[in-house]
Amino acid sequence: MNLTLLVEGNLKIESFYMLNLSVWLGLETMTCQKAESAIKLLESSHTDFNLIIVRSTIGKEESAKLIIDHLKVKNISTPVIVIGPGKEVAGSFAHISNSLQLKSLIQSAAKALHITAKDMNEKIVPDYFPIPINYFTVIKRSICPVFAQDSTDPSLYNLRIDKLKTFDDSLIKALMSEGIKRLYVDKMDRLEFVNNVTSELMSQLEKEEISPDEQISATEKSVELLGKKLAAIGVTEETILLAKKNIVTMKAQVKTYPQLAKLMDRLLSNKTSYLYRHTQIMIFVALHIIRHIDWGNPEQEEKITFICFFHDIALEDDTQAQVHSNNELKKLDLPVHEKQMIEKHAQVAAEIVQKFPHAPMGADQIIRQHHGTLNGMGFSEHYGNNVSPVAIVFIVAEEFTRIVLRREDGPFDRTEMIRELRDSFPTSRFQKIIDVLQSITV
Ligand SMILES: [Fe+2]
Ligand SMILES: [Fe+2]
Repeated sequence: MNLTLLVEGNLKIESFYMLNLSVWLGLETMTCQKAESAIKLLESSHTDFNLIIVRSTIGKEESAKLIIDHLKVKNISTPVIVIGPGKEVAGSFAHISNSLQLKSLIQSAAKALHITAKDMNEKIVPDYFPIPINYFTVIKRSICPVFAQDSTDPSLYNLRIDKLKTFDDSLIKALMSEGIKRLYVDKMDRLEFVNNVTSELMSQLEKEEISPDEQISATEKSVELLGKKLAAIGVTEETILLAKKNIVTMKAQVKTYPQLAKLMDRLLSNKTSYLYRHTQIMIFVALHIIRHIDWGNPEQEEKITFICFFHDIALEDDTQAQVHSNNELKKLDLPVHEKQMIEKHAQVAAEIVQKFPHAPMGADQIIRQHHGTLNGMGFSEHYGNNVSPVAIVFIVAEEFTRIVLRREDGPFDRTEMIRELRDSFPTSRFQKIIDVLQSITV
């Protein structure tokens, strides 16, 4: 048995770490909230840990340093992975400063334990994968059917929760009172299930609990989760709240990183997707225009942020996000239903926004027509003559964002990027808005 010691002060992070270490690497985890208690555990127990994961600092405690110093004194060679921002601690096996980059954590842990990709693939997973029941208290519905082991015949698993059906705490409490400690999902569903629970927990993290870099990762996960929820349950109180929280955060990022290159640098170093970078940079560019144009005001700021946030919400991944013409779409080697989704993503997003309470006036129309077609189906190179000023801001911001993302590593030559933009939109209504970008801070 691989027993890992996790020293983490944040219970939400502790929770999804345990789940991910179990599902990806088959690790069993013991936890401590402070290095102080972890050291006591190391001294008293006869348990051998083959990996220790510790947060750099917990409150005022220099947790990673304390643990590593202790191991040195005791001459114990257990590898230590340090997570969270903070300075490097000599003697650590690896340092993952953005602790929400789970992929890096899993890779490091696998390396420390000499677990290869082949080992992981060959690992025998039971047909029904166990999930500790407490994880069901952080979700309102499961993305797959959930089973419980039969109390008389343990080889039988009975369906207890339907896929995507909303359930409440009382159901989980009732199951717990039956003495149930674990529920089960089909082994084919386990990774998606764990990913979903992880997203839920990450999106519940508040700004004060995490570093600015971790906030970027948490918001990306949260927006991805929102997209999936909107597809599954539509516009509800839950999705409205989640959307509002994400809009506030993405708008605030523009204030945190007032320079385009700096924002881009953080988005890239935190390994965000093209889709997320596209939306975040667009909000940056569009807000710059609204804040510097004579008719701009706070209401228009709200409106443009809302439109940027929602326009591609129906898209799921980077391949989909990079399609810009019917021809490109045709050439893609994707299943028919996915191609149809890309084709109608503007229409789907517009329908969502129409149902959204107090959506800014006309937002749905701009979203529906954001690829140039009136009904939101497919892509057109031409925009009609009667597009509204806000729609022009949107179109310009999107094209400028494409130019920026194409040269993501910089340098960002503002004059050259604007020249490229001007070539795409020769009419004077567009040129006037492009003029405003001359003062953008790259
Ligand atoms: Fe877009
Ligand atoms: Fe789009």
